[in-house]
Amino acid sequence: MKRWNVLLLLLAGICLFAMLCTSRREVEPVRNLYGEAYAGTEACRSCHRAICDSFMRTAHYRDSRPASAAAIKGSFRADSNFFVYQPAYRVRMEQRDSNFYQTAFHNGHKYRSEAFGVVIGSGRKGQSYLYWKGEKLYQLPVSYFAPTGTWCNSPGYKADTPLFDRAVPSYCLECHATQARTVVEPGEEYGDFFDRGQIIYGITCERCHGPGAKHVAFHTEHPDEHAGVYIIDAGRLTRQQQLDACALCHSGSRYPLKPAFSFRVGDRLDDFSQAKYLPQEAASLDVHGNQYGLLSTSKCFAASSMTCSTCHRVHGDQEGNMPAYSQRCMSCHNGTSGALCAMPSLKGLVLGNNCIDCHMPALPSQKIMLRLSGSPDSAKLIANLVRTHRIAIYPEQVKAYLARLNIGSAAFKAGLPADVPGRR
Ligand code: HEC
Ligand code: HEC
Ligand code: HEC
Ligand code: HEC
Ligand code: HEC
Ligand code: HEC
Ligand code: HEC
Repeated sequence: MKRWNVLLLLLAGICLFAMLCTSRREVEPVRNLYGEAYAGTEACRSCHRAICDSFMRTAHYRDSRPASAAAIKGSFRADSNFFVYQPAYRVRMEQRDSNFYQTAFHNGHKYRSEAFGVVIGSGRKGQSYLYWKGEKLYQLPVSYFAPTGTWCNSPGYKADTPLFDRAVPSYCLECHATQARTVVEPGEEYGDFFDRGQIIYGITCERCHGPGAKHVAFHTEHPDEHAGVYIIDAGRLTRQQQLDACALCHSGSRYPLKPAFSFRVGDRLDDFSQAKYLPQEAASLDVHGNQYGLLSTSKCFAASSMTCSTCHRVHGDQEGNMPAYSQRCMSCHNGTSGALCAMPSLKGLVLGNNCIDCHMPALPSQKIMLRLSGSPDSAKLIANLVRTHRIAIYPEQVKAYLARLNIGSAAFKAGLPADVPGRR
């Protein structure tokens, strides 16, 4: 009897050991090209709670995710779940159980259906969707456009027929995820075959501060150590290093010199990829995705040591908060270190509420033009509006802003705010 018990116990022990071994293999950490291990945002939360909680609401954090009902912004309702290319061709967005599909029809006959695999874009402006085919990712034909709240044609695809053939290079995820390992096929220089177990979706803490497993292990073991170690302190880098950390993704598409995901914060970006524009031509850049190029042509940038962090607090979401952004302008333009605004005075106009709509207006992108359902006609393209980072004087946009404010109206006077500094 006793011997049976011992044997059973032994067996249970062996089973437990086997289970532990397999589960340990499942949590094999994601590593970068240099072998450094990531810990994941949840692991940062125990010690940096406030930063994590506010960061998890930002567009960076939600920028890419595996497909789910919560992540996909477009509608699957019967009255709005389709995209029409021309009467003969349409794509229907379908939900079956917990899976989502884009299904293409020709004259009512279904001919291709692919599942939403990865969602790119927080949905602030729009989203594109990728599907898996083996270890490769391809772009789905239909995207989502936030200003109209509808499905739209994926940018770069043809206007008249749904296609599924755009393979997604690793550089796409380099700007839209924290880490992705690509498996290089023999004979190919840079592989675009993804290792699905080695992807960290979203632009998370470790994208800017470097892989954090060692930092987490050290501080967990040494709770009395108050100086951070084994982690990149982004605030202590030189100005150019700080700018490069953002320019990696915010200076337009670049010519690669090295494989995707080899740049680390602190590196010199030009050693890894080259800008596609000449500095002297930066003023004519498209507003989409090139905040670094445009900002660098501004007088503010040339005449100060400003970085992106002068105005942006990347751990929190400040979208739409014009008074907070205007405070940043006035930290320099206070009449002591920088000139005050020279806008001729107008009764009731409070400059300090919104320097932005006059000096950094949202302008239409010429690159990202979207086509809505049933309008293959190129005259009907809709431009995406993007905040320009060339800080300057824009007479046309000033006029439009004043017209929007409608200063003379009773409605405006009723909500008239008190004047604040910012005027000469
Ligand atoms: C066990 C506690 C602990 C965990 C978990 C932890 N940190 Fe820290 N971290 C610290 C301490 C302590 C400091 C130093 C004091 C400070 O700056 O808050 C620090 C500092 C930092 C700094 C500033 C660098 C510096 O030199 O001061 C960054 C950036 C940072 N941590 C990022 C992270 C990230 C990213 C994660 C998750 C991958 C993480 N930390 C997880 C304890 C921790
Ligand atoms: C890995 C690429 C990547 C890096 C590095 C990166 N960004 Fe972004 N950023 C993006 C993408 C992609 C979006 C669009 C997010 C979305 O809405 O899906 C974005 C959006 C933003 C936005 C608009 C959304 C908001 O929160 O208001 C700001 C501002 C911004 N980034 C600033 C910065 C700054 C400052 C840095 C450097 C400290 C930086 N980014 C580094 C890729 C990156
Ligand atoms: C060089 C970096 C870079 C590459 C490569 C890149 N993007 Fe982006 N993308 C950005 C940045 C930065 C933004 C935010 C731009 C802005 O608001 O000006 C953005 C915005 C977007 C958005 C809108 C998100 C939102 O709501 O603001 C979508 C969708 C998107 N990209 C899809 C893609 C796809 C799909 C690919 C690859 C096939 C790709 N991008 C390649 C940097 C990049
Ligand atoms: C887009 C890049 C980016 C991301 C993502 C990011 N940080 Fe930071 N972080 C910075 C920069 C830049 C600084 C320097 C100070 C500043 O400009 O706000 C910084 C500073 C810090 C500091 C030290 C100063 C402070 O504010 O206490 C800590 C700690 C920190 N980050 C932790 C985190 C954690 C934890 C996450 C994820 C929840 C995270 N960061 C995500 C760019 C980033
Ligand atoms: C880090 C300091 C700093 C910040 C922040 C800053 N500026 Fe400037 N800006 C300058 C300096 C320095 C100049 C050069 C002229 C001067 O001394 O005022 C300048 C020049 C200008 C000019 C004249 C441009 C031209 O082409 O003649 C405008 C307009 C301007 N800034 C608006 C703004 C606005 C709006 C903001 C906020 C979105 C802002 N600045 C933020 C330092 C700054
Ligand atoms: C002088 C202040 C200032 C500086 C410096 C600055 N930004 Fe911005 N940025 C703004 C303002 C203001 C907005 C508009 C915010 C809004 O509409 O909610 C903005 C918006 C953005 C957006 C969203 C664009 C859109 O239309 O959706 C991105 C992305 C961005 N900034 C990235 C950067 C990057 C990267 C840098 C550094 C190269 C940078 N910014 C430097 C003030 C600044
Ligand atoms: C209603 C639109 C509007 C608003 C709001 C506005 N500005 Fe201006 N700003 C202008 C115009 C127009 C000019 C050019 C005026 C001229 O030269 O006659 C100008 C000129 C400037 C200049 C150049 C001054 C010089 O001496 O060359 C600076 C700096 C400036 N503004 C900063 C700001 C700041 C900072 C804010 C927010 C506190 C702000 N502006 C708000 C429209 C505006």
